[in-house]
Amino acid sequence: MAITTTVKKMILFVITTLTVLMGTSSATIYKVGDSDGWTAKEDTYYSWAYPKEFHVGDSLVFDYDRNINDVTQVLGALEYHFCDSSSPKAVYKTGQDVVTLTEPGFHYFISSNHSQCSSGQKLDVLVIHDPSRPVPPPPPSKILPFGKMYKVGDSKGWKVYNSDFYYKWSEEKLFHVGDSLLFEYANEVNDVLEISGDLEFKFCDPTSPIAVHKTGQDLVKLTKPGVHYFISSEPGHCEAGLKLRVVVAPAAVPKFSPIDRFISWLRTFRHHH
Ligand SMILES: *[C@@H]1O[C@H](CO)[C@@H](O)[C@H](O)[C@H]1NC(C)=O
Repeated sequence: MAITTTVKKMILFVITTLTVLMGTSSATIYKVGDSDGWTAKEDTYYSWAYPKEFHVGDSLVFDYDRNINDVTQVLGALEYHFCDSSSPKAVYKTGQDVVTLTEPGFHYFISSNHSQCSSGQKLDVLVIHDPSRPVPPPPPSKILPFGKMYKVGDSKGWKVYNSDFYYKWSEEKLFHVGDSLLFEYANEVNDVLEISGDLEFKFCDPTSPIAVHKTGQDLVKLTKPGVHYFISSEPGHCEAGLKLRVVVAPAAVPKFSPIDRFISWLRTFRHHH
């Protein structure tokens, strides 16, 4: 026990020192399990997580079959060890969940499906807070209603495919404020520019973008209603169809749980008396 704690402290110290020296500055999005996603698989999530450095502000994307799985964040190492999902810290179940790591320390994720968890569907990550990096704002889900995440182009991702592929992809969907778009691509050959208007979109003009993303796994939260435009700035790519226009409707009406209704009822009661 004591040895494990000392080792963990040493690892923490080394990682913290390295990070300060390297001075990395932007938040990273990790897809848990890479192409395998979140499932019971032969290789362990320990070997997936161990070589990585997680920082406050980074996010984990859990991609899985929600018919048999979920993402249950548990409080401690014991619950993690025994696959005990009876008193979770948080439960995610959309099948594509983005979890932002907002606190330093160990974080434990399991599947509440006991047989899946017992066969290795469990992840613990050590999150480091580097004082030289700015503390990110609280996760948008606390401000905005809970949204859906769309992977742009689905399994095709973000790359030149054909001229109306992304047009059709977005046309079939109904986006709301609070939803997010995940752009996945090879970042040596592509990027994602958010641009401001119809004309820039029509003529693939990358000269005055609102935002530039280039990690290869960019999560873009749709925070305002209206039309949003995304293009690739690589010469020829946008012209060949790598351009996305999404129409975003105001936030979907949040569904209140019975507890929320009870609380709001209590408030009304107090106002009247
Ligand atoms: C748990 O996972 C197994 C596959 O390992 C699946 O057959 C079963 O239906 C799942 N149970 C639940 C409650 O989702």
